[in-house]
Amino acid sequence: MRGRPKPGRVFSAAMLIGGPPAGVLLALSLLDLLAPAPAMLAIAACAAAALGVARLWLGNLAALAAAVERAAAGDGRLPEPAGPLLPAVAEVADGVARLARTLAERGGLVARLTAADAAIVEALPDPLLVLSAAREPLRANAAARSLFGGLISSKTGGEIAALLRHPTLAEAVERASASGEVQRVDLVLPLPVPRDLSVQVTPLDPPLADGGQLLVLLADRTRERAVDRMRADFVTNASHELRTPLASLLGFIETLRGPAEDDPVATKRFLGIMAEQAERMRRLIDDLLGLSRIELSEHQPPSGLADISDIAIAEAEAMTPLLAARKVTLLREVTQGCIARPADAEQIAQVVRNLMENAIRHGRMGGQVILKVEQVASPRPGVMLSIADDGPGIAREHIPRLTERFYRVDSGRSRAAGGTGLGLAIVKHIVNRHRGQLLIESEPGEGAVFKVWLPGEVA
Ligand SMILES: Nc1ncnc2c1ncn2[C@@H]1O[C@H](COP(=O)(O)OP(=O)(O)OP(=O)(O)O)[C@@H](O)[C@H]1O
Ligand SMILES: [Mg+2]
Repeated sequence: MRGRPKPGRVFSAAMLIGGPPAGVLLALSLLDLLAPAPAMLAIAACAAAALGVARLWLGNLAALAAAVERAAAGDGRLPEPAGPLLPAVAEVADGVARLARTLAERGGLVARLTAADAAIVEALPDPLLVLSAAREPLRANAAARSLFGGLISSKTGGEIAALLRHPTLAEAVERASASGEVQRVDLVLPLPVPRDLSVQVTPLDPPLADGGQLLVLLADRTRERAVDRMRADFVTNASHELRTPLASLLGFIETLRGPAEDDPVATKRFLGIMAEQAERMRRLIDDLLGLSRIELSEHQPPSGLADISDIAIAEAEAMTPLLAARKVTLLREVTQGCIARPADAEQIAQVVRNLMENAIRHGRMGGQVILKVEQVASPRPGVMLSIADDGPGIAREHIPRLTERFYRVDSGRSRAAGGTGLGLAIVKHIVNRHRGQLLIESEPGEGAVFKVWLPGEVA
């Protein structure tokens, strides 16, 4: 138990309190002004009183010291005193205990708020860095750590060093510290893959407790900018694709009005070409509208079912004229009753049509196309549609880009074959809507196989 005074201290204090009166009594007795017996009695009484007072006061002071000590340690409870407390001292000790309790509560609140702040910063979706006066990163949230592969010291090199050394960011940091105002800049981090970043640098005044002077908030805009670029490319491509046949139509109209006005042979020939060009424009517009409709519904899974076996056979029949024109033999390996579910039969028919057309048009003149429909167990139980040709095949570097709108391996040849470059983009979006998979396997000179897996069953 704290608060019991040490005997040595009690004795010294008693000497201080009782010493002077006892000395006076002793002097009076030595001068014969006081009889020795009463003098001795009075000295003993003085000593006893001094000891009592010293013990009481020292005990009270020790209890008070113990209470203050506990309060300093954040404990709001009063220690049990060793002896009786004077009312005034008890009041002070009580006050100290209350003060300690309030401080402890405030301390708890501050700790909770600090933890909440840290949790919010940590959970922010955008990467955030705190820089010291020496422009070194002091803190980084989870998004920043993942952006920089877990390394947040610029000394370890890597992307964070590249970011902090980037002249645009370095300038923004200097401007922010000099002006005390928020600076916003856009920059591209070239490595390991180019990343478009929007950066906001906020000077911290006063600085943070850990010495943080600047807050660097990063927003990764790579995807958005890529989408913007794709959108711009799409508009450019679509207008280019429309402009070419339009220019040819206008040219022929001019010719028919002028030099070929009275030439029935030329007129007939030109009208034939014009009809072809107009048909090409119509196809392009139909494909573009079809694609945007499919994209709009892509996030809504289909609800019906599609008998892929029946669809494949019907579409193969419809290809007869094209097969004949290209002298292509079609082999059918269709298992009956392969059902895709949930599926949109109309869209699945379009997938079969686009892939068959590609195999016949881009395959070998006089070649062979194999159309296969079967039930499969992988990647998951479902239906696999596969269309293989023995044409020129596709070089590896083109394969990942084939489903981009307007992407053609040989645009001259494809355009000559009447292609718009939207067929596989439409296939990809339909397959995505069905939560299926499109696989393209090809080697130059070895033909191409386009496989579509769809969730389904065998009836
Ligand atoms: N079976 C195939 N063999 C070789 N190349 C192919 C095959 N299928 C597609 N390609 C290549 O992929 C490109 C894109 O095909 P896609 O179907 O998207 O466009 P397209 O056939 O040119 O035009 P569209 O289908 O819009 O009429 C084609 O231009 C062609 O270069
Ligand atoms: Mg096509």
